[in-house]
Amino acid sequence: MAIRNIGGEELEEQRLFMQRVRAVTHVWDHKPLAYTHSYGCQQNVSDSEKLDGMLEKMGFGFTDTPEKADLVLYNTCAVRENAENRVFGNVGALKVLKRRSPDMVIAVCGCMVQQEHIAERMKQRFPYVDLIFGTHVMHKFPELLYSIYEKRERVISIPECDGVVAEGIPVRRTSGFRASVPIMYGCNNYCTYCIVPKVRGRERSREPEAVISEVRELTEGGCKEILLLGQNVNSYGNGSEVSFPELLRRLDALEGDFVISFMTSHPKDCSHELIDVIVDSRHISHHLHLPVQSGSDRILKLMNRHYDTARYLELVDYARSRIEDIQLTTDIIVGFPGETYEDFTKTLDLMRRVKYDSAFTFIYSKRAGTKAAEMDDPISDEEKGRWFRELLDVQGAIGEKAYERYVGRTMRVLCEGRGRTDETLLTGKSRQNIIVDFAGSDDLIGKFVDIKITKALPWALVGKQCNS
Ligand code: SAH
Ligand code: SF4
Ligand code: F3S
Repeated sequence: MAIRNIGGEELEEQRLFMQRVRAVTHVWDHKPLAYTHSYGCQQNVSDSEKLDGMLEKMGFGFTDTPEKADLVLYNTCAVRENAENRVFGNVGALKVLKRRSPDMVIAVCGCMVQQEHIAERMKQRFPYVDLIFGTHVMHKFPELLYSIYEKRERVISIPECDGVVAEGIPVRRTSGFRASVPIMYGCNNYCTYCIVPKVRGRERSREPEAVISEVRELTEGGCKEILLLGQNVNSYGNGSEVSFPELLRRLDALEGDFVISFMTSHPKDCSHELIDVIVDSRHISHHLHLPVQSGSDRILKLMNRHYDTARYLELVDYARSRIEDIQLTTDIIVGFPGETYEDFTKTLDLMRRVKYDSAFTFIYSKRAGTKAAEMDDPISDEEKGRWFRELLDVQGAIGEKAYERYVGRTMRVLCEGRGRTDETLLTGKSRQNIIVDFAGSDDLIGKFVDIKITKALPWALVGKQCNS
């Protein structure tokens, strides 16, 4: 499938629809307000920033309660069943609001409704949902919304992937000093448990120039932390001249004071070259999120991950030998179809061997349309629950001590704001992407501060500002 970069003319058309929506809401007795919520991964959050950007251009302001909204927009995730159940619950709860305010527009978009059977269920179960649109028409949101206002009829738009990479969509960023920048969309990997390739389509990389100029603009505008996004950043460029390590090299050459991090790095494509680029860099984060999924080679094969534990451990050892202060994190799935307790203990062994700083752990969730959904899955939910708790205990014990190695060091921390649990402290992130809490005044927010680490918690570091 050819990749189709769109911008200019096609987006010009959407700009016209933005003006038309503006003309509709302009005559209202109040400024239109939108309530938008994003479920799922950073990619979805990033898409929501674009949906919000388009809403802003359409004259909307934002509210944080659906009760006050003229438009409710849920951007959904399909990766596990509980993510979907939450959306069904929240959309269900809008029924009362819609009865009270029939003019309110309710829209549901994103990965979950890209699946036909879910869109159908949504359509049947929630007749008051006005607009349902998939992942491949995100850029046409103004046109879709306008047709609701014009015709007051339900609109459902869920085309298949046509290779589009849309450039130039307005973005409403939530922070002045942190920004996500997608470098690619979709995924070609077909891990057998995963729905993402189905709902996000084939892998499409953005042009390196587009990424570099966006990052340059952001950092010149005062942004201090850039998160590059892709389901498998290591296959960026898909064999073209600018590979992911090369893209990083070019971004690292940009002037300014900022950190670049990236997600997610698939172990099958993670090269020594990538690690070497990090070593030599000025801006690149010392954090590698390297999802292993399982410590059993038999299960990795069934998952279609294209690496074995030997290759994975070799990568980990190389990264640790080259970047002494690296933070290593991972994703793990428990209870993949056919997994035995013996397979599971191999995952525990691998965790003890690697000693991750933290791990995101999930119980396998069956996704319709994936290969794994067809596999025999004899282990009961209760049994999987027991394994899961055992895994949490093992990682808990490792995580408890993992950050201790940073105590006594001085770390450069980007101060992000007041602490979430302790308002009296400031909180920020180190170059290793570790949360660091410290005392200080609000004028440090958005700045880099040198912090001497005094204490390690399982999820964060605590320290003191140097020379303060
Ligand atoms: N592209 C990334 C992961 C995206 S999804 C990568 O390959 O690393 C994030 C995580 O959700 C995955 O790493 C996996 O651990 C988990 N996940 C995906 N599908 C799942 C499923 N069907 N059940 C349980 N966990 C799943
Ligand atoms: Fe899913 Fe695998 Fe693609 Fe990650 S690499 S999004 S787990 S198919
Ligand atoms: Fe992300 Fe969920 Fe879609 S993890 S890509 S929002 S299925």
